[in-house]
Amino acid sequence: MQEAIILVGGKGTRLRPLTNHTPKPLLNVAGSSFIRHQIAKLMDAGVEHVVFATSYLASLFEEEFKDFSQELKISYAVETVPLGTGGAIRNAARLLRGPVDAPVLILNGDILSGLDLRDVLERHTAREADVTLHLTRVSDPRAFGLVPTDESGRVLSFLEKPKTQEECVTDQINAGCYVFRRSVLDSIPTGREVSVEQETFPGLVAEGRRVYGHTTDDYWRDLGTPLAFVHGSADLVTGRATSPLVARSGEALIHPTAAVDPTARVTGGSTIGPHAVIGPRVIVDRSIIGGNVRVAEGAQIHESVVDHDSSIGSESFLREAVVGCHAHVGAQNELPAQLRLSCGIRIPAQGVRVSGTAVACPTVH
Ligand code: GDD
Ligand code: MG
Repeated sequence: MQEAIILVGGKGTRLRPLTNHTPKPLLNVAGSSFIRHQIAKLMDAGVEHVVFATSYLASLFEEEFKDFSQELKISYAVETVPLGTGGAIRNAARLLRGPVDAPVLILNGDILSGLDLRDVLERHTAREADVTLHLTRVSDPRAFGLVPTDESGRVLSFLEKPKTQEECVTDQINAGCYVFRRSVLDSIPTGREVSVEQETFPGLVAEGRRVYGHTTDDYWRDLGTPLAFVHGSADLVTGRATSPLVARSGEALIHPTAAVDPTARVTGGSTIGPHAVIGPRVIVDRSIIGGNVRVAEGAQIHESVVDHDSSIGSESFLREAVVGCHAHVGAQNELPAQLRLSCGIRIPAQGVRVSGTAVACPTVH
């Protein structure tokens, strides 16, 4: 029986306020929670048992899957205090059922990738590896784990989040998907915080264990930042990235209960959630609009997330914005890029502008 562990206990701080009430893997991308896309991909690869390593807002995962009736057994390894990535893997390994030599798939809970999971499992077994890491290449590796390999693919070292330019010895990074021989999991210490990146991988390499990299140039994105999150969702909608849960690709994914005015333009892989109302002449491009959101006439929303039950006033302009739930942006606001609006916040009409077209001062001097 093929088994997998998914690490889903992080707080998702870079995605606040979206993650204030919802763990990152349960946020909606392309019409489903991200974890459901991952589960569908694992099932396609023949996985029959998944252990969720949960911590932050743990009960919401059980809630999400309480009616799950497909051919997959789901277990929950809950950390009352976060154990770090290595500690979480060790804690979840208690719930595995396979033999000591079985290959176990381990996934970070925020990676959208086109990796062929069966292929990485086959290579791991063929090499008789202790651990196989999926690796990818990025232009700026500083936010990731650096993993140089030799010509046979053997991992030479593992350096998490390099701080200096000299430390950036390769553009090849840890892509957040591993295969571990089950017995290797049992060597991770228990009962304390352990980082698989800072402690376990460097330790295994230093001990001379058979740690291999599997480098691919498939689609790959960590959805941990707002811009990556909206781009990942848009890529799933347009078909640049694939998921068994997205049957047809297109310019937009509009929920059947949403009302989109015929003069509005919804493009670039945008998603419109249930009961959302998109008014006349609105432009929504490469964005995620949550359930019950109202966008009034002439507003423009680019590369942004507007969380559920919020409203955007007429002629307002958003770019790379994150709007928390139950927020209200009044008419004719022009929000600076990368602004995050807290849940429930209200911006009055004409309250914020970045260009030089501020309206006449309403105060009597
Ligand atoms: N259960 C549990 N407990 N899960 C955790 C914990 C914990 O204490 N800490 C983090 N996680 C989970 C997160 O929910 C996420 O799914 C995964 O572990 C990785 O954490 P991130 O916070 O997303 O890490 P990162 O993106 O900065 O770096 C990681 O991913 C990169 C690839 O995107 C590292 O693995 C890097 O080496 C890697 O390059
Ligand atoms: Mg991440």
